[in-house]
Amino acid sequence: MYQDVFGQDTTINSRDALEAWNKTLLAFMAHGAATPTHLGEALTLDPNFALGHAVKGMFYLLLGRRELNDTAREALGLAEASAMAISISAREKSFVEALKSFYAGDMSQAVAHLEDVLAVHPDDTLAMKLSHGIRFVLGDGKGMRQSIEAVMGAYGPDHAGRGYLMGCHAFTLEETGEYARAETVGRMGLTVSPDDAWGLHAVAHVYDMTCDAQGGLKWLEGREAAWAHCNNFRYHVWWHKALMHLDLGQNDVVLALYDTEIRADKTDDYRDISNATSLLSRLELNGVNVGDRWEELADISANRTEDGCLIFADLHYLLALIGGSRQHAITKLMGRMHRDAKMGRVEMHRLMATPGLSAAAGLEAFGESDFKTAFLNLARARQTIQNAGGSHAQRDVFERLTIDAGIRAGFLDEAETILKDRMRKRAGGEDGYAAARFSLISQGRDASSCATSLPAE
Ligand SMILES: [Fe+2]
Repeated sequence: MYQDVFGQDTTINSRDALEAWNKTLLAFMAHGAATPTHLGEALTLDPNFALGHAVKGMFYLLLGRRELNDTAREALGLAEASAMAISISAREKSFVEALKSFYAGDMSQAVAHLEDVLAVHPDDTLAMKLSHGIRFVLGDGKGMRQSIEAVMGAYGPDHAGRGYLMGCHAFTLEETGEYARAETVGRMGLTVSPDDAWGLHAVAHVYDMTCDAQGGLKWLEGREAAWAHCNNFRYHVWWHKALMHLDLGQNDVVLALYDTEIRADKTDDYRDISNATSLLSRLELNGVNVGDRWEELADISANRTEDGCLIFADLHYLLALIGGSRQHAITKLMGRMHRDAKMGRVEMHRLMATPGLSAAAGLEAFGESDFKTAFLNLARARQTIQNAGGSHAQRDVFERLTIDAGIRAGFLDEAETILKDRMRKRAGGEDGYAAARFSLISQGRDASSCATSLPAE
């Protein structure tokens, strides 16, 4: 039995394998591109490393791609076989159980198994980060915060995971509206772990939610090294930077970042597709011509209509298909979403029923310029859209589409109510988007009062 870098007893066969595992853990905490390489090395050195197989399976499932379920099933089989061949700890067994639940489509149960680990081993940074990551996919901001705050006392100044814990804490504070504390904790965390792109990005979220695009740019500029080492998470940090330029009306800079960073690699990872589609949607809502940029996103999304791993991914594939006017693929995707919702077999199916279907119907109607139907459906979805997963900043694309549909359909009072609620979530701040929409609502009201005061002919 060895101890990993975070002090956890680990059933692994050699010091070399442990070293590769420690590199895996540290790379995973920093969203490092090298994570799978280190994990592959650990599993090559110790093919019976049950915990490593279990974590590999969860990494693949977190990618949200149907074709990777086979790899996850294989990892589960190897984890279970290893657990039979070699005596492993209760902690390690819980990771295997977490993978089993995740693979069976019960992500909340997977989280529960990881929380079981944290109840006994609160200083287990791996369990903390995995629970955080799965809860993020479920949109469970409050749960993320409770999970982190329950284990903080176990992190002394020498704990190797302390900076990463602070990065996660900063993100949960931001997602639950405590912006000042989030910024302080995020900045402190980055001084402890300078490669923690998640913590750096949590502070970028704070600037977004407090409507301070200039401050956000100042925060990100010069800190590129903190996310250059990342896997495709680095595209997401560039996306945040682009949102700040968008808010300042610097559309040329946004498009340049889109072409040179955000979509420099035409990947088909759903997180990259979501960055791209939501940015193009925001640009178009602001009246910007995005050229032929929808085409490659629509090509990729047309191949993922049968995926169905995550409704967050499906809704962004739908945005791409609408942007690229792919009617046949839209029909296929909508059909599959309805079938999933009807089945209700796993957690994602139930989330597809609510809020997935209303959100999808709203997006489809928006694409057809049927703004009344779009607004009614999107406003209904809005009540539970948090369960679609992701962050406030990511889901803001749906909020913007709802408000814009309302304004275009003439539901000015309703659109204004949502706009004010959006401001309330942003500590009362008004960003460039809100200012422009309040102006549109005001113009709409002026036009309607002029029309009613015209003398009858
Ligand atoms: Fe983000």
